[in-house]
Amino acid sequence: MSGPPGAAGPAAAPASRICLCLTGASLEQDAALLRRERRWVDLVELRADFLAPAELAHLARFPALVDLPVILTLRRAEDGGRCAEADRRRLLREALAGAGPGGAGYAFVELEHDFSDPELEGAARARGCRVIRSFYDLHGVPAGLAARVRRLARRAGERGELAKAEVRVRGSRDQRRLAEAFRDLRGVEKILLGLGEYGSFSRILAGKLGSWLACCSPACAEGEPEVATEGQTDPRVLTELYRFRSIGPETAVYGVVGNPVAHSRSPHLHNPGFTALGLDAVYVPFLADELPEFLRTARALGIRGLSVTVPFKEQALRLARSAEDEARAVGAANTLLAGTAGGRGGWRAANTDVAGFLAPLQRQAPALLEPGAGAVVLGAGGAARAVVYALTRQGLKVLVLNRTPARARALARRFGCQWGGLEAREAARLGGGPALIVQTTSVGLGGAGDPLPEYAFRAGQVVYDLVYGSGPTPFLARALAAGCRTVDGLAMLQAQAEAQFRLFTGSEPPGGGLGRG
Ligand code: ATR
Repeated sequence: MSGPPGAAGPAAAPASRICLCLTGASLEQDAALLRRERRWVDLVELRADFLAPAELAHLARFPALVDLPVILTLRRAEDGGRCAEADRRRLLREALAGAGPGGAGYAFVELEHDFSDPELEGAARARGCRVIRSFYDLHGVPAGLAARVRRLARRAGERGELAKAEVRVRGSRDQRRLAEAFRDLRGVEKILLGLGEYGSFSRILAGKLGSWLACCSPACAEGEPEVATEGQTDPRVLTELYRFRSIGPETAVYGVVGNPVAHSRSPHLHNPGFTALGLDAVYVPFLADELPEFLRTARALGIRGLSVTVPFKEQALRLARSAEDEARAVGAANTLLAGTAGGRGGWRAANTDVAGFLAPLQRQAPALLEPGAGAVVLGAGGAARAVVYALTRQGLKVLVLNRTPARARALARRFGCQWGGLEAREAARLGGGPALIVQTTSVGLGGAGDPLPEYAFRAGQVVYDLVYGSGPTPFLARALAAGCRTVDGLAMLQAQAEAQFRLFTGSEPPGGGLGRG
């Protein structure tokens, strides 16, 4: 097994830079956007093709409006931009002519790999403006990406330019190709970015993977155009949550893989935990559509450990080379640990949902976990498996109720429980009411819905809802109103994350635990 992450070292030269992509309609609007995000940003890209036509005559002025190096980009329509080719050369020439070595000029200008204008390029060089030589693939990640970027970087290097490739990452296969390109291009100076949510790791991990900069969009900019929001993370989140500037080649990478994953709370638990312990490690969300492909991505990136969430928990167990008894008994894994750096020794599966589920009960109502006590579990999906396993292992008598009775029966048989449907007459069957009710269905996600509206709670019952959101679910709110003690899904999320943190780092979570500060 790979060792725990090392302590964060002293700050060195930046491994990468945060570049704010400005897509306002006026230069003044762009300057205002930058002022809002200034403290988290190292340089800016002026997407001049987004400017209103009247603004274009004043392009040369923009560098003087801001106090950071500026990249001038007039992207062509064929590369996803809005600039007609006929106007570009003139606009670029005028914009660069306003610059002088002593004055405020553009620090960079982006020109495409198939663009040639020796006069314009010479003028840029003479003014100390470095050319970024780019290519785009908006249809996907091409096979042979690394070779193509290497060629571009070699030619760019000979001319003192910087190579840039931006590719759309449409799914797990593209994601794997991009990760392998990063691995194969180690040590090559370049900007390499993946567009879209599948590619967001390329921005967060730019310092580890060796991309000279990472682009990001202003947070919640009004009227933000679609091109600026493709899986981009805003600069404050990059800086504060992911500690972008402390990520380097040696940073240990962990993450959560799932679909969907964008709203996972797990990065907000693990990253502050790493920070508090001074570990050189980062925890990244990975959207995936195929787990086997994603595990190849994980190998290419050298990922040390993963949280696994919907819909991959059962497949994660099957794909792992070895598994802890608990994961095997549940039939699902929420944790994968790399056997050696990057999983080359195969993955080891664990399940911290069991410990995570039990921990709040052990703290708040240990008497309910005595052998022979009764409990009702609503739902028979993946989450219910860990719950039913945990309760039956404690020796409780469990009744599983599910909308699809056949699933309830299958789960109940596996763990030796009783089962039934999720209807009013089943609610009646609960009689005086069990001491513990656990709600594992997805009903209540997003704040709406009650899986058993006919059921009348009894004061003193403990009601545990695995769903978490901004407040109690309708089910939990009813239980509270009836005088029940309640446990919400956040308590389980935190406890399972703490167990994972121990597996990832070999250390106790800091202070009172993850996300409790
Ligand atoms: P998870 O891994 O989060 O448990 P899952 O395996 O898809 O996700 O299981 C979802 C659970 O929520 C199931 O028990 C499902 O009931 P069915 O087996 O009948 O599908 C339950 N569920 C989802 N929507 C529901 C609804 N509208 N009413 C009642 N139960 C629902």
